[in-house]
Amino acid sequence: MKLAVFASGTGSNFLAMLEDEGIKDKIELLVSDKPDAKAIQTAKEYGISFFSFDPKDYENKAAYEREIKDLLQDKAINFIILAGYMRLIGHTLLSVYEGKIINVHPSDLPNFPGKDAIGQALRAKVKETGVTIHYVDAGMDTGPIIAQEKVAIQEEDSLETLMARIQDVEHRLYPKVIKQLMEDL
Ligand code: GRF
Repeated sequence: MKLAVFASGTGSNFLAMLEDEGIKDKIELLVSDKPDAKAIQTAKEYGISFFSFDPKDYENKAAYEREIKDLLQDKAINFIILAGYMRLIGHTLLSVYEGKIINVHPSDLPNFPGKDAIGQALRAKVKETGVTIHYVDAGMDTGPIIAQEKVAIQEEDSLETLMARIQDVEHRLYPKVIKQLMEDL
């Protein structure tokens, strides 16, 4: 099993995978659309190859995804893990990897898809939200759900406190699900 992780930002989920001995050795590549993402720094610290690109340097999504696809195929990557990758996956990658791309989303999907899911849940004044791990399709957080865990919202929660509890769940649940999927493949 050879994994690629896609991340645009902090990469705390990427770090949780690297800290899991069952996953670390399987991660072959980090892909980031933000050349200054903290996740790239983490990749360097752990000796993981990375590919960073600026979408503005390409004509369109298909053009940068073609480059990513070639790289993934050169490295014989067979599974893609999105961890805070802030772009929809297009046809170029889906045509090769659909069913082999997963994502973690900070809500109890189908509630609160898209950006700022934690803020959306707070503004909706619901009593609980959650963490969802799902397969990736062409839609925005619409693919089949693999695992989900609820997170209660307290009255005094701010964006920061709720995000911290959600991320604690992500860092535990995502590595567990990844290992389970690797065993089943
Ligand atoms: C996570 O909350 C994840 O659910 C969402 O993006 C965030 C990424 O956080 N898709 P990090 O970069 O792993 O810290």
